[in-house]
Amino acid sequence: MVEANKEILRVDSERLKGWFEELSEIGATTQGGVSRRALTEADLAGRNWFKVKIRSCGLELWEDSALNIGAKYSSLGASGPSVMTGSHLDSVENGGRLDGALGVLAGLECLTRLKELEVQLKRPIEAVSFTDEEGRFGGMMGSQALCGKLSAGYVERAKDVDGVALSDVLRSIGVNPEGLYTAKRSSDSIHRFLELHIEQGPVLGKEEINIGVVESIVGLFNWRVRYVGQANHSGTTPMHMRADAFKGLVCFASAVDEILKNHGTPSSVSNIGKVELLPGAANVVPGQAEFTFEVRDSCGATLNLLADKLADAATDIARRLSLQIQIDSMAEIAPEQCDGDTISIVESAAADLGVTSKRMVSGAAHDTQNMIALAPSAMVFVPSRGGFSHCPEEATSWKDICNGANVLLNAIYRLAC
Ligand code: GLV
Ligand code: MN
Ligand code: MN
Repeated sequence: MVEANKEILRVDSERLKGWFEELSEIGATTQGGVSRRALTEADLAGRNWFKVKIRSCGLELWEDSALNIGAKYSSLGASGPSVMTGSHLDSVENGGRLDGALGVLAGLECLTRLKELEVQLKRPIEAVSFTDEEGRFGGMMGSQALCGKLSAGYVERAKDVDGVALSDVLRSIGVNPEGLYTAKRSSDSIHRFLELHIEQGPVLGKEEINIGVVESIVGLFNWRVRYVGQANHSGTTPMHMRADAFKGLVCFASAVDEILKNHGTPSSVSNIGKVELLPGAANVVPGQAEFTFEVRDSCGATLNLLADKLADAATDIARRLSLQIQIDSMAEIAPEQCDGDTISIVESAAADLGVTSKRMVSGAAHDTQNMIALAPSAMVFVPSRGGFSHCPEEATSWKDICNGANVLLNAIYRLAC
């Protein structure tokens, strides 16, 4: 039996590696990544795999009405709010094997390790897998629901980029869509939240630092924009007589950089990630151009200003080109600050393990930024080889993964003592 706060603990690296290899087979792509978009067959298989593992580790299993899945361990005498860790098992299409999965598997390993070492803890500990972190249906459904942050009407409105309705998907798997609004946990049920994740950028690798300790997480907004013109014969319609919806998209895409430069900060970024032209034929002028558009920055006021300026620009372009425009807001996530005490605990766990760390900003969105509403929260990053993420090339050396998992384990241990 381990006495609280007296020892440096280490995860079972072979067990964690075995789990990682098993999970990576679920939704594996030929390019070496995974496709587990939320609530697809592959994601459902990944979720089932996680539930089976929780039971086989002898941990308590829970699932809430937003389909978040958790493992819970209470050592003898533990009571009160939990120390929670976790991340997500869903991925982007043909994404990497680590984004989200690392934090869930390392969380499960931490609970299993503390249980088998019979570590005495004051507080229960939980490891959670949040539903749809990657925003197939816009936003971060699971952690938003768990924190009571789902906006009214979200469930009724939410659709993926192919137009598939969230409520239809939920009903098809026997889940009541309205249940999403009742998944909120009370803030007095969670003491702290700590998420392990890959950095998804190049900084730690370039600077040869083992661990990133996240101080703040950027916010974002995400729109679906549709320009509507008139589909027509591309050979007979003179150029000046067209209402070409694609031209609207092109003009908007060309205007964005300048707007970010004039009204954003040096860290403002934007992305047009999916585009669809209709009817989509070589000899037909596009009557409709629909695209996704997102913007990220660490400053909430800057995001609001950019949203106004970009919407004005998009509308002016429509007017100039005789097009109609529709802008639907798919997600709005505020930038957040991590908790200073939890950051210090992570830093001291890293120092005691003999690994280097540095504080940093997360340019990616994470479930942690929702969890901040419920409990003081922070994140641990490990390096991403080459800075790749959201693609099959996403990778982290096993040594770096173990460093991250060990920092997580020791930080959870300290938080739960
Ligand atoms: C999540 O991975 C995001 O940053 O979009
Ligand atoms: Mn992630
Ligand atoms: Mn991601």
